[in-house]
Amino acid sequence: MNERMSEIAFTPERMKRFEALVAKYEEPACALLPTLYLAQDQFGHLSSPVLEYVARLLKIPPARVFEAASFYVLFKKKDMGKFCLQVCNNITCTMMGSEDLIHVIREDLKLKAMEVTPDGTFSYMPVQCLGSCDTAPVVQVNEEYFENMDQQKFRDLLRALKDGEVKV
Ligand code: FES
Repeated sequence: MNERMSEIAFTPERMKRFEALVAKYEEPACALLPTLYLAQDQFGHLSSPVLEYVARLLKIPPARVFEAASFYVLFKKKDMGKFCLQVCNNITCTMMGSEDLIHVIREDLKLKAMEVTPDGTFSYMPVQCLGSCDTAPVVQVNEEYFENMDQQKFRDLLRALKDGEVKV
């Protein structure tokens, strides 16, 4: 995507959602986090021009927007490819085998944390608890959860994603 400042703008549908969000709060700035989610949903990741756009929309200093985007790990600061594999590495998922899934990522995809495959299909992002510990280990792919994973299920999922059999 060309990210020249003049070309960064919410679609009309997202602009309506943004306006509805802001209307819920006394101060537009209070809508910062949901606005960042909206922006990530549209632009794929939060580049500097996107963060500056959000700052202008909310009429707050860009530094405040950059700070929030950096603090929360679920906001992507760079293009993470078509499928961002977010593997929970918190205690329950670790005890239930998330290291086996990370092994598949390292061995099959040759990815380390925050790397993207050369063809832009997969990236890997370690994350903290995804709030689904009873179905550990959990992998989030873009916005979708895949639960009770093991190495075979995970390899099958990667193949199905690549072949377009599973949509996320
Ligand atoms: S520890 Fe993995 S979802 Fe909670």
